[in-house]
Amino acid sequence: MTEAPAMELRRASVAYHGDIRILQDLDLAVRAGGITGIIGPNGAGKSTALKALYGLLRPVAGDVLIDGEVVTGLPPWRFIERGVALVPQNRSLFNELSVEDNLRLACWSFRGDRARVEAALERAYTQFPLLKERRRHLAGTMSGGQQRFLELGRALALKPRVVLLDEPTAMIAPRLSAEIYEFIRGLPAQGITVLLVDQNVRQCVRIADHLYVLELGRNKVDGSASAFAHDEQLRNLIAEWVDYRIDA
Ligand SMILES: Nc1ncnc2c1ncn2[C@@H]1O[C@H](COP(=O)(O)OP(=O)(O)O)[C@@H](O)[C@H]1O
Ligand SMILES: [Mg+2]
Repeated sequence: MTEAPAMELRRASVAYHGDIRILQDLDLAVRAGGITGIIGPNGAGKSTALKALYGLLRPVAGDVLIDGEVVTGLPPWRFIERGVALVPQNRSLFNELSVEDNLRLACWSFRGDRARVEAALERAYTQFPLLKERRRHLAGTMSGGQQRFLELGRALALKPRVVLLDEPTAMIAPRLSAEIYEFIRGLPAQGITVLLVDQNVRQCVRIADHLYVLELGRNKVDGSASAFAHDEQLRNLIAEWVDYRIDA
């Protein structure tokens, strides 16, 4: 028997208002121990899919699964307890708080357990030594790239098994972007499964072992980048949707 995916959406339909389904019967599997990528044009529903996988939106039909178990309807904090972390597309830091206080807030649910809180801070600081240097600085005074590191460090402080990353390098300087991609690439070796949503199709194709291409809330195709690269028709279709040609 093959291992169940770390997370799945099964025929999931998701709406923000009434019956306008932004995602329609979406099937998506996040393979354990790998990097799964989602690409697709703006407004395709990539962020919506991540919100559904984190319990921020409850599907109106279909299911969300963790390790093959149906967990549809669990609230986000339960997903956190189950080892799922989300780094959302929009900035999510408390600008007026220090780097360390932002990290401490992530530990709120176990704030009475000092050893565990200290271990969580240490995990973030080990991943990103810069955060330790800046731990007394206000989050809002750091550069965009540094803030991204703090958001990543905060997600990893909780020792997740799965991280959902939404456009991790949007509006970030190229040098820091490259660092962020290298960091993401190293996560599976630490036992962390990754789902990466990215507008930077080139990087997403480079580091993901499996790709989903979404268009208007539906699956278009999925497969490995090399499979796409060897199929001229698919390459042309993908180039049309996301304005990027996958080469062998
Ligand atoms: N909070 C919201 N309320 C209503 N509609 C939304 C909301 N967020 C996103 N949408 C709509 O859902 C669709 C998909 O959005 P999104 O998942 O953000 O796309 P992507 O991340 O692929 O760019 C878009 O048409 C967008 O306008
Ligand atoms: Mg988005």
